Amino acid sequence: MIDNRITIGMVFVLISMIVLTIYGIQEQGRLEERTESEHARAIQRGAVIFEENCSECHGPNGGGVLGRAPALNTGHFFDPTVGRLKEVSYNGSIESFVTLTVTGGRPVKSDTQYAQPMPTWGQQYGGPLREDQVNDVVAFVLNWAGEPRGEAGAGGAAGGDCDPDDSPCLGLQAFSAAGCVACHTVADYSNAVVGPELTNVFAERGPDHIRESIMNPNAVITEGFTADVMPQNLGELLTPEQIDNIIAFLEDVSSQ
Ligand code: HEC
Ligand code: HEC
Repeated sequence: MIDNRITIGMVFVLISMIVLTIYGIQEQGRLEERTESEHARAIQRGAVIFEENCSECHGPNGGGVLGRAPALNTGHFFDPTVGRLKEVSYNGSIESFVTLTVTGGRPVKSDTQYAQPMPTWGQQYGGPLREDQVNDVVAFVLNWAGEPRGEAGAGGAAGGDCDPDDSPCLGLQAFSAAGCVACHTVADYSNAVVGPELTNVFAERGPDHIRESIMNPNAVITEGFTADVMPQNLGELLTPEQIDNIIAFLEDVSSQ
C-alpha cells in the first residue's frame, strides 16, 4: 500500500517535470519570438523616423542624394573587410559607428560635396531624438546590412581621402569618427561644449596630457567639468596609431 503511494507520487512528480520541461521549451521559444518581434517593431518605428528625418538627405531608401549625403544601404558601407569602417579606421562595431554618427552628428564635413554637415540627432547633444528613437533608426539602418541595394550609391563614398602618412588629416577623421566632435570644440572643425575646447590643448598642456585624457579620462578632471562624462573606453576603441594621429591633428590646430 505504502509502496503504491510512493510509486504514484513518483509518477506525479515525473509527469509534472515533463510538463514543466515542455512548458519551459515553449516559453523559451516565446521569449525568442518576443525579442524577434520587438526587434522587428524597432525597425518599423525606425523606418518612420528615417522617412521623416533622414530621407531628405540620404534618400528615401538610404540610396544617398548627390551633393547632400552618402548612401547607407550599400554593400560597401557594411563590408567588414574593405568597407566604411576600414576606410575611416574605426575599430568599434558598425552598430556603434552608426549610433555615434547619428547621436553626435558630424559637424565636420568629410567631403566638400555635401551642402550641409550631418546634423546632431541625440537629445544628449542637443538634437531632437530620444535615445530609444536613435536606437530604432539605427536598427532600421543596420537592417540594410542583410540586403544591400546598390554599390557606391548616388552620393558616392563619403570622404576618407587622406594621404596615408598625413597624420593630422587621419587624426581629424578619427576625431570625427570616434565621436569626439560631439563634445569638444576644435577651431572651425567642431563646435560642441559638453567638454572643454581643445583648440589650444596641445600648446597649453602637451601630448602626454592629451594621451592620458583619452586613455584615462578621470585621471585629471579639467576645471569646470565633471568626471564620467567623457567615455571611459576610448582607449579600447582607438588604436595607438589613431591616438597618435589625433594628437598630431590637435598639434596642427594649435600651431595655426
Ligand atoms: C541635412 C542632411 C542630413 C540629414 C537630414 C541626415 N544626414 Fe546623415 N549624413 C549627412 C552627411 C552630409 C553625411 C556625411 C558626413 C561626412 O562624412 O562628412 C552623413 C553621414 C551619415 C552617416 C555615416 C555615413 C558614413 O559613410 O560615414 C550615417 C550612418 C547617417 N548619416 C545617418 C543618418 C540618419 C539615421 C539620419 C536621420 C536621423 C540622418 N543621417 C540625417 C547628412 C544628413
Ligand atoms: C560625451 C562627451 C565626450 C566625448 C565623446 C569625448 N570627450 Fe573629451 N572630455 C569630455 C569632458 C566632459 C572633459 C572634461 C572632464 C575631464 O577632464 O574628464 C573632457 C576632457 C578631454 C581632454 C582634456 C582637456 C583639457 O583641457 O585638459 C581631452 C584632451 C579630450 N577630452 C579629448 C577627447 C578626445 C580625443 C575624444 C575622442 C576620442 C573625446 N575627448 C571624446 C567629454 C567628452
